[in-house]
Amino acid sequence: MKSFFILLLSVFNVVQALAWGQNGHRIVGQIASNHMSAKAQKAVGAILQGQSIAMVSNFMDEIKSDPHYDSLSPWHYCTIPDGTSYAGPPSEGDVIQAINTYIKQLKSGKLSDIEEAFALKCLIHLVGDIHQPLHVGNGQDKGGNEIKVTYFWESSNLHRVWDSGIIDGQKLSYTEYVAWIDQEGTQQVNDWKKDDIMVWAGESVSYRPQVYDLPDHKKINYDYNYHNIHIVNKRLLQAGIRLAGLLEDIYN
Ligand code: ADE
Ligand code: ZN
Ligand code: ZN
Repeated sequence: MKSFFILLLSVFNVVQALAWGQNGHRIVGQIASNHMSAKAQKAVGAILQGQSIAMVSNFMDEIKSDPHYDSLSPWHYCTIPDGTSYAGPPSEGDVIQAINTYIKQLKSGKLSDIEEAFALKCLIHLVGDIHQPLHVGNGQDKGGNEIKVTYFWESSNLHRVWDSGIIDGQKLSYTEYVAWIDQEGTQQVNDWKKDDIMVWAGESVSYRPQVYDLPDHKKINYDYNYHNIHIVNKRLLQAGIRLAGLLEDIYN
């Protein structure tokens, strides 16, 4: 029985290590819905058969438990080492290549209904992922997964703190979280919608020095949250608004 629980815990840990946590992706999805034209909302609603963007946003993490989709695992992140610029995707692909591929597929008008829903759900997820600073890794530590930390009372790692720890610590539902952070003015919203994917990735790189600014003992709690929550919230907001812009570009 004990080993069963240990297994359960480690499965949970692995799942946690994969992406913005469930609430992070839902927050991005809900913000996108809030900022989309009626026309794009209608088109997306039809493809998703009435499911919300927020509620399909974790699809690409859910399919990770199916070995059939193993080849998609490297598509949740990319690598840009410190002091370098993006060198293009590795042979297995990355989040930048995947986003561009799904955009092209969705614009082609050649997908079956099932393929179209699959591509759209993946795109919704990956625009969130690329905004998480540690999903644009430095190539040294698997996007911070190998940086072990104590986060409040539990063993964790830096990647997980950024995917879910800081967000979940707010103890807000995803709709409450969106009501809290979705307050940006129209000018800024429109400017964010115009930035392209290489800007999104470059911004993630630019936040890494602060993300990695840890005490030597690697025990982080309120102080780390306090210094970083504004970055988390800005990235969630930018991801949602840029996803809205992208879906308007595809469906308007
Ligand atoms: N594995 C290797 N690099 C990673 C990253 N940046 N994010 C998530 N998983 C990874
Ligand atoms: Zn992911
Ligand atoms: Zn992650």
